[in-house]
Parts: sequence; C-alpha cells; structure tokens
Amino acid sequence: SRTVVRQDDGALAVGGADVRALAGQYGTPLYVIDEHDMRGRARAFRDEFAAAFGAHGAEVDVFYASKAFLSSKVAKWMHEDGLFMDVASGGELEIALRGGMPAARIGLHGNNKSDDELRRALEAGVGRIVVDSFTEIETLDQIARGLGTRAPVLVRVTTGVHAGGHEYIATSHEDQKFGLSLASGAAFDALVACQDAEGIDLRGIHTHIGSQILSLEAFQESAERMLGLRAAFRAEIGVDLPEVDLGGGYAIQYTPAGEALSPHDAAAGMAEAVAAAMSRVGGTWPRLSIEPGRAIAGPAGLTLYRVGVVKHVGLEDGGQRQYVAVDGGMSDNMRTITYGAEYTATIASRLSESEPALSRVVGKHCESGDIVVRDVDLPSDIARGDLLAVPATGAYGRVMANNYNAVLRPAVVSVADGASTVHVRRDTLEDLFSWDVAPD
Ligand code: LLP
Repeated sequence: SRTVVRQDDGALAVGGADVRALAGQYGTPLYVIDEHDMRGRARAFRDEFAAAFGAHGAEVDVFYASKAFLSSKVAKWMHEDGLFMDVASGGELEIALRGGMPAARIGLHGNNKSDDELRRALEAGVGRIVVDSFTEIETLDQIARGLGTRAPVLVRVTTGVHAGGHEYIATSHEDQKFGLSLASGAAFDALVACQDAEGIDLRGIHTHIGSQILSLEAFQESAERMLGLRAAFRAEIGVDLPEVDLGGGYAIQYTPAGEALSPHDAAAGMAEAVAAAMSRVGGTWPRLSIEPGRAIAGPAGLTLYRVGVVKHVGLEDGGQRQYVAVDGGMSDNMRTITYGAEYTATIASRLSESEPALSRVVGKHCESGDIVVRDVDLPSDIARGDLLAVPATGAYGRVMANNYNAVLRPAVVSVADGASTVHVRRDTLEDLFSWDVAPD
C-alpha cells in the first residue's frame, strides 16, 4: 500500500506530495509518514487477526505499541481505526490521552513504573497495567486500595523463548530485566500474589519476546508456553484467566535484501499455535491481544535529508568509498549506531543516470560512528543540495532522537492525498535556550 512514487521528472513523491516541496516547507532532516500506509497497516493487523482467530470463535485486540512512534494525531488515528494502545511511561500515557485514545483502551507497561505513573494510570482509568515485579504488585495494590479501586492487571511473563535481532531488543531470555520467569515459577507466584491482592483485579498474562522477529516458530512457541501457564493456573487455583497478550515484535523490511513477517502470516501462524495449545489443554479460550509497533509505523515513514559534503576515500583493498554526509545523523537515527541496524537510501530530488558508487551515508556529528547507512550504492554524481531519502524510519526514529551537538531535532509530518500536516514541530534555537540556564 506504500505510495512512494518516482515522478516523471525523477523526484520522489510520498502520499502525493513532492519531496522537494516538503523539504522546502519544513526543512531537513524531515520525517515523513504516509498516513494511508500507516493506518492501512494498523487495520491489516486488526482485520487479519480478527479473521484468523475469529475462525475459532476467539477475539483479538490490537494494541499499537506507541513507543515506536507517538503523536497525539497518531493516537487519534489508532482510535479511529479500532486499535487499542500500549504506553510505556507516564509521558506516552498523556500524549495518548491528549489524542483522544480512551483510557479504557490503554495498557501501561514498564519494568520500573513510578508511584506517580501508577496513580495517574489508575485515576485516568487505564484498561490494564502490565506488572513486571513483586515490588510493583505490592506497590500497585497499596495505591489502588488507597484510591478505593482495583487495578486491572496482567502479569508480564518471561517465557524463555530466544528470538529477536540484536541482544538489546530481545526480551524473553532469562538474563534480562523484563518480566517474571515462567521456568523458575516466579510468574506463577506473581499470579497468585495478584489473585490474593485486594487492590488487584487479575485479568491475565502478557509476554513480549523481542523485536524485529522473523521467526513465526518463536511466536508459536511463546504462545504455546503462555497457554500452558494459563492451564496450570486453572489446574491449581481453579481460575481461567480471561486475557492473554502475546506482545509485538513482527519484523519489517529495512533493505532490499531484508524480509518482513506479514500480518497475514503472523495471524495465521499464531491462531494455529493457540488453537493447537487450546485443544491440548482444554478449557475456554481467553481474549487475546497483540502489540505491534514497528510493523505499523516503521515502513510508513521515511527520513528526508539534504546532502552536504561528498568525499571519496581510498580503501585498503584498493577500492573507493563515497562518503555522503547529510544534515542529520545519529541524532535523528540512533538505530544504526545502537544495534548495527541496516538501512538503504535513495536519491530523492532527481533521477541520476550516473554510475552507482559504493557509498556510506554519514551524519554531521562529531564521531566516526555517526553512520546512517553503512553500505549502499548511490549515484557517483550525488552532490551538495540533493535530497536523500532513507526508507523505513517510521518506528524508533523521532522517538529516540536526541540533541547531540545541540542539533535541532527534525519535525515529523504526515502526508495523505497530497496534503501534509505537522505531528511534531522541528526544534528551534529557542527550545535549546529554554533548557540552557544563562549566566546572570
Ligand atoms: N510490547 C512490548 C511490551 C514491548 O516492549 C515492545 C517493544 C512492543 C510491544 C513493540 O515491539 P515492536 O512490534 O515495535 O517490535 N528501540 C528498538 C526497539 C525496542 C522495542 C522495545 N519494546 C529498535 O529501534 O529496534
């Protein structure tokens, strides 16, 4: 459904808007979201999971993992498109509410929520709080009782399934900070503690095995283990937990050689695994939910940069590399330096007939690791003033941006049918000065 096209004169258009006009109006770097694409992906998850699980008479709620990209306008879209929303902090909660996402459709995550975040979530009336520790169960119980309410809770379970790309985004092996271990019995004990807590309304279990996962088998194995835990709880405690959340993590395609796990394949495979597990353990089906973030926002966004300096550097093997420096870098895309993530890039403001050259897209920051795209072929006549587009930056781009070297973080705009709208405005010098406390 992506609507990036190369126009007759060679420049790209996104969602019907010419990239040269967007760059002119909003400046560069600029994150551009294709509204129809992002919302189409959200509805594809909703519809594919509804169809695959509906065939078994089961229901699935799709929570958009807002950490991937959040603006109040995106919260409004997701609500209009029938999604729920996962937030991982008090700040994300406030932006989601600001966009009109009903509190009852919001789930709050986090391994170390503050008392204030828990209290605010309860006062706002969030639909679920996913607890991550015994400390949190105790704290939440107290706060809820203090407010004269009961907190709707899922327990975050570490299933021990190994999946996910980089170590920093894998979350279900034992030796990491999230969740309560299934294997050690901690998850079970946490469920019992919740069941016994007067201030807690235990709704079910949650797991998230990691991010950028291609392997359907990993999701299936995790679903199987989660339903096993639910069955064990019923066998010992006599309660069929009503809700099971299987998290997010569906891989997207970043480069021409990359692969994605489609909503259709994910839904079919997970429905099959849940059905197999349910026929093994028996009992009533839970209400299911999933939490895709990257797979909704990622492919729908691209970053537009302006090329500044182009340099040719001799390599040890006798070859050459073209260094294309753009007007952003590790401040607007932390993923390359953090995870060794791969991207591609294309000249956006014109078509070039020149020979492709082995290139590296780098930023303007004061360190050599400031790389946006490690290896890509770009035209050998690329030059100062050209626009460069880096696709698939819609997730974990602007939300992880920073002001290193006191650069101004880029704006985020969405485009649809030729029209653009600002979600996040570009930083200004006044913003920098508002944090810097000047000498008297
Ligand atoms: N649910 C939970 C509980 C999560 O922790 C996450 C992501 C998601 C859902 C959504 O995962 P997704 O569908 O987007 O893969 N900054 C890293 C990704 C960190 C993901 C953290 N949790 C990156 O840029 O790759």
